[in-house]
Amino acid sequence: VKIRDVEAPDVAAVVRLLTQLGYPADAPAVARRLERLTESDSDRLFVAEVDGEVVGLAGLHVSPSVEYDAPAAKVSAIVVDEDHRRLGIGEALLQAVELDARERGCGLLFLTTAHRRRDAHEFYRRLGFEQTGFRFAKSLD
Ligand SMILES: CC(C)(COP(=O)(O)OP(=O)(O)OC[C@H]1O[C@@H](n2cnc3c(N)ncnc32)[C@H](O)[C@@H]1OP(=O)(O)O)[C@@H](O)C(=O)NCCC(=O)NCCS
Repeated sequence: VKIRDVEAPDVAAVVRLLTQLGYPADAPAVARRLERLTESDSDRLFVAEVDGEVVGLAGLHVSPSVEYDAPAAKVSAIVVDEDHRRLGIGEALLQAVELDARERGCGLLFLTTAHRRRDAHEFYRRLGFEQTGFRFAKSLD
């Protein structure tokens, strides 16, 4: 498995993976999002490639913190294609995110996850994350 930064030609694969994650979107919208993310110094989007095919995705967002001296890093949109799970690809993606967060001097790596994603919770625990709280969200649409 090769982990690399997302590139414009990955749009179709990202659409497929986002759909599997429960966030269906059309290609032009995803292309615009990738452009914005690529331009942002605070963000990085990794993809996992196996035999030339993009089969996984994981994002990183770094923000300054008022609670800590060091910035905090958030993992976003981590997903591995359903035909490629349990092969270590998610772990490789999360390791790339963690390494980048460390290199940027972050003191905390965190993420939010829905209650229903029990498989993902096992995955996070296995990779050293602890459940430390609840997430409250309000849609502003
Ligand atoms: C969560 C997810 C990204 C994990 O990716 P993956 O490539 O399958 O995970 P890995 O193969 O790297 O797993 C590493 C370890 O995590 C644990 N793990 C992973 N999936 C698991 C599952 N379904 N049940 C229990 N433990 C699991 C295991 O300990 C595994 O090691 P092992 O296979 O040697 O036992 C993937 O299942 C996925 O895309 N799920 C759907 C989307 C999703 O829920 N994303 C998270 C949003 S918050």
